[in-house]
Amino acid sequence: MTVHFIGAGPGAPDLLTLRGRDLIAACRVCLYAGSLVPEAVLAHCPPGAKIINTASMDLDQICLEIAAAHADGHDIARLHSGDLSVWSAMGEQLRRLRTMGIPYDVTPGVPSFAAAAAALGAELTLPGIAQSVVLTRTSGRASAMPEGENLAAFAATGAVLAIHLSVHVLDKVIAELMPHYGPDCPVAIVWRASWPDQRIVRATLATLQLDADMAAQRTALILVGRTLDAEDFAESRLYAGDYDRRFRPVGTSPRFPEGE
Ligand SMILES: C[S@@+](CC[C@H](N)C(=O)[O-])C[C@H]1O[C@@H](n2cnc3c(N)ncnc32)[C@H](O)[C@@H]1O
Repeated sequence: MTVHFIGAGPGAPDLLTLRGRDLIAACRVCLYAGSLVPEAVLAHCPPGAKIINTASMDLDQICLEIAAAHADGHDIARLHSGDLSVWSAMGEQLRRLRTMGIPYDVTPGVPSFAAAAAALGAELTLPGIAQSVVLTRTSGRASAMPEGENLAAFAATGAVLAIHLSVHVLDKVIAELMPHYGPDCPVAIVWRASWPDQRIVRATLATLQLDADMAAQRTALILVGRTLDAEDFAESRLYAGDYDRRFRPVGTSPRFPEGE
């Protein structure tokens, strides 16, 4: 029997992968992180499935549920929001499963930073402006940032920042970034990207202001970087008419002759 860890996506139920949907439909037991996983995704569970919201459980309790389902011979769907590679608490669960000898696999999901960029209609990497995106956060009550991983250090590179779990300390974030990006640097905040009540605010570091209602809603991403409003950037070489490449040989002596 296997525990299938599945990225449930950013919110919209149709942003679940087909593989994730099929695995959910095949499992008699489903554990889901209720704070962010949409209920509509649970509609894929088979009739009679045991569906457990783990929002109020601790790691021991979660592992007991998994061990019990495993002992009964059931496959388990384990759902977390977005993708599992960032801030999912999957790592500690996998370590417990390895200790218990319970097999698992991992199905990726659409991460919230990608859903937020889509909501903005933005390519975060543009030629000559920014070619890196840093997925980061600020220190929280449950997780301190390791030394050296701070906003100022990332900002010094000029990369685009996708700052998670931090809208409640927005003023501090802006103050740390301003000296590096400058007051006119664009910033966008996307609340609940892909949910029906998604909201977007665009501004610059100097002009950003939120009303109290928006500041209180914490499922939000802060995106900062020069690509957010750039119009004056070079076109990529990939689609340039004179660019000789494997799939589109150009000229009399192409670098990659056809068929090679
Ligand atoms: C515990 S982390 C989970 C991240 C998730 N694993 C992912 O791939 O995006 C939760 C944080 O992700 C961001 N987040 C998650 N879903 C979001 C959404 N739909 N819209 C905006 N931000 C979201 C927020 O910053 C939130 O505080």
